[in-house]
Amino acid sequence: MIPNQWYAILESSEIKKGKIVGVTRMGEKMVAWRNAKGELSVMSDQCPHRGVALSVGKLIGDCIQCPFHGFEFDTRGTCKLVPANGRGAEPPKALRARSYPVREAHGFVYIWWGEPQKEYPPAPWFESIPDTMVYATLKDHWACHYARAIENQLDVVHLPFIHHNTIGRGNRALVNGPVTKEESHWDGDHLINLWVYNEVDGGQKPKKPSEMPEPNRRPGLQFRFGNVWHNWIAENLRVVVAFAPIDNENTLMYLRYYHTMRVPVLRQIVGWLGSLANLVIERQDRRVVITQRPHRPDLDIGEIMIQGDQPIVAYRKRRKALIDK
Ligand code: FES
Ligand SMILES: [Fe+2]
Repeated sequence: MIPNQWYAILESSEIKKGKIVGVTRMGEKMVAWRNAKGELSVMSDQCPHRGVALSVGKLIGDCIQCPFHGFEFDTRGTCKLVPANGRGAEPPKALRARSYPVREAHGFVYIWWGEPQKEYPPAPWFESIPDTMVYATLKDHWACHYARAIENQLDVVHLPFIHHNTIGRGNRALVNGPVTKEESHWDGDHLINLWVYNEVDGGQKPKKPSEMPEPNRRPGLQFRFGNVWHNWIAENLRVVVAFAPIDNENTLMYLRYYHTMRVPVLRQIVGWLGSLANLVIERQDRRVVITQRPHRPDLDIGEIMIQGDQPIVAYRKRRKALIDK
């Protein structure tokens, strides 16, 4: 995992008011919970007293209570009560549950993975998605490193093979370009924009990225670090994927189908059909991607890349630069 970034790890709707949910993300056991006021907290699922999982505790007022000795912690991890010491006693300062900086935006729960900052950048998103759009979410588990799943979404070479009967229909196996444009901003925002120009092989030579004209249309694919991806299918039709890292060998995919049908019932039907299409396509990918070895991709793992893999190389380079920083 690249440190010092926001990661979408859950959907807001998964953590209801007054609910405690234990999850594994970023290779760690975490507890996500929302107090009666609706305030969200994501903490390490380990009581600082004697190591019990807080996720099997319960909510008392605005605090989570450890099931073992009843210590209570607020959403920021501060211990508010040690029952054995009496209500009148100030809990020791060192008794802090480890809590993650958290943001809720666009229906996702983001955690900051890394060093605490004086000021945090905004949670990564795609502002081109209008607020008038609605979405349906499909969750799916992939037994692979999250970076492998991300690379697959930047892979334009696989389309006519894995997706020969769906989005890759038409046998456009010859890969021109593709054109990749990166944006990097001081506040930690790193974006990869991608334009796809695959075509049917009629004996012509594929054009190099440098031979492609300057794109005059929106990018079809966008990836924003740490873990969100956008397929800009049409103005009123988008797919967004958040790749929530579970650990080095497992990823939870949040696949959202965005559309503009707001009429009740029809909205559900459109969302359901869109998610079904997403499921068919992503299962075509999953079957193959989970077989990749090694699990964790990097620049020096000996893979022999071709011109069409250039977006993946761009992702790996940026990933390495961010890790080294
Ligand atoms: S282990 Fe949590 S209160 Fe003792
Ligand atoms: Fe795919």
